[in-house]
Amino acid sequence: MRIDVLTLFPAMFQGPLTESILGRASHVVPLGGTLRDRQDDKPMEIHLHDLRQWGKGKHKQVDDSPYGGGVGMVMRADVVAPAVDAVCEEEGRGGRGRGKPWRIFLTPRGKRLTQAKVERLAKKRWLLLLCGHYEGIDQRVIDGGWIDEEVSIGDYVLTGGELPAMVLIDAVARQLPGVLGKDASAEEESFSHILGRKREYPHYTRPEEFRGHCVPSVLLGGDHAAIALWRRAYTL
Ligand code: 6GU
Repeated sequence: MRIDVLTLFPAMFQGPLTESILGRASHVVPLGGTLRDRQDDKPMEIHLHDLRQWGKGKHKQVDDSPYGGGVGMVMRADVVAPAVDAVCEEEGRGGRGRGKPWRIFLTPRGKRLTQAKVERLAKKRWLLLLCGHYEGIDQRVIDGGWIDEEVSIGDYVLTGGELPAMVLIDAVARQLPGVLGKDASAEEESFSHILGRKREYPHYTRPEEFRGHCVPSVLLGGDHAAIALWRRAYTL
């Protein structure tokens, strides 16, 4: 899967995309960089774009004060829409067509991200994530057809769409074949479909006794049927 991110703060993505599981799973193509042709060895390729590239005038302005007055600034349509278009016109990896990206605007006004939505998004070949900032974005970007879906990650307000974009990328990445280990994805599969998407039994590892607290004895016995039953009690 290819994911392009349009953001005013591309540097925010460094840690989350380069460490741990996401770091192993993805090629990150930084500002102005290019991916060498046909680098197919990782399940995900992420292209970061600085929205300021499309900014207006000497100061590369990306926002302006709202018509009608009020506090805060609004991201300009004549900056954001051309940025979205520019990404859409990029060839989807080494000349191999991917069609057009599914364009997502991250905003607290969007529809809540759920596991079901994550699984649907993980089936797309190409996502474009537009990170909002300031008070919002000129409504004509939405109404004019530059966005396919508005997504929020929960009922609280953040300073921008960058953290939500990273949450979405993480949740989608772990659905892609080859990101989690074989065992983990098989287990995920069975939980997702048979056990109603929950995986909430408690976990224990060494030592067997920690400051007077013991591991439940059923987990030490090697009776796999009993262990499965014990776990299921938490899951259903
Ligand atoms: Cl997607 N953006 C912002 N700014 N705040 C949020 C959000 C998004 N989702 C929840 N809160």
